[in-house]
Amino acid sequence: MRNLLFSFILFLPITFCFSQAKKETGPFTFIDTGGKPINAHGGGILYHNNTYYWYGEIKRGKTFKVPGSNWENYRVNAGGVSCYSSKNLREWKFAGVVLPANKTDQNSDLHISKVIERPKVIYNKKTKQFVMWMHIDSDDYAYARSGVAVSNSPTGPFKYLGSEKPNGNMARDMTIFVDDDGKAYHFYSSEDNATMHIALLTDDYLKHTTTDKRILIGLSREAPAVFKYQKKYYLITSGCTGWSPNEANYAVANDILGEWKAYGNPCLGKDADKTYYAQSTFVLPVQGKINQFIFMADQWSKLDLEKSKYLWYPLSVNTEGLPEIKPYK
Ligand code: DGJ
Repeated sequence: MRNLLFSFILFLPITFCFSQAKKETGPFTFIDTGGKPINAHGGGILYHNNTYYWYGEIKRGKTFKVPGSNWENYRVNAGGVSCYSSKNLREWKFAGVVLPANKTDQNSDLHISKVIERPKVIYNKKTKQFVMWMHIDSDDYAYARSGVAVSNSPTGPFKYLGSEKPNGNMARDMTIFVDDDGKAYHFYSSEDNATMHIALLTDDYLKHTTTDKRILIGLSREAPAVFKYQKKYYLITSGCTGWSPNEANYAVANDILGEWKAYGNPCLGKDADKTYYAQSTFVLPVQGKINQFIFMADQWSKLDLEKSKYLWYPLSVNTEGLPEIKPYK
């Protein structure tokens, strides 16, 4: 187990280790350079100018069940979006609350009574702006929209521009993928989470174009995480079981807006059928390395969401073109 962990570390261009984590095998409560637990759930990482920026949901305070819900609708008040920066993926410096929640205006998308989930930040080379997309919802998840914010700096502050239903569609769990040609795509769970959509964003990344493709039709997938390897596109998703773990699945496409074929579970080893009790959020390509990715997932603590942990496992594509996530033990 240790050998696998250390060989993974050795592959990285810069030291990546879990020395500050509580357990070597994950999931982890990552600790920032100020000694506090990292609060960046459902997150994603932007690599910009030799620095990694980790953005995520701030989950703080008491977890409660939304009154009147007939499902496990546990939540904390929306806490906004945090950012941490790192040069080495090991030491994370808190860079601030880059998009705060609103405490006073009940009608604001960012009000603490709303849902602000799965923020992802991308950089637009043409406009030189950092663009954040996120899932915005009401506490009963009926609002189902995508919010967008911009900043001139990776560490914010981000200016919230508003939310939309992409091409009139419901939009919940999401991620953003920027292709080699600079085109950005919004992957979002739609149609009451039954079907995933991929919408091409406008050149400034601030709106949706009408290019909007339905994939994994009727398969009920969420928590999308996308990466590209050797001209193929890979999409890892979870099933739809709220905060409870389930089996991950992956799909592959030769053309991002073409045919996506769903395969099986990319997870190997113990607890693979439950994604190691975690849920996908992002796949991070390791800078400067070929076929080395980090599968980032959240291990939700549904009765105390602030205590949710992070699981980062190595991911690579095997000789048959199949993605494999391997735990350390
Ligand atoms: C599953 C989603 O993946 C999470 O981001 C969150 O929305 C929970 N459902 C809420 O139950």
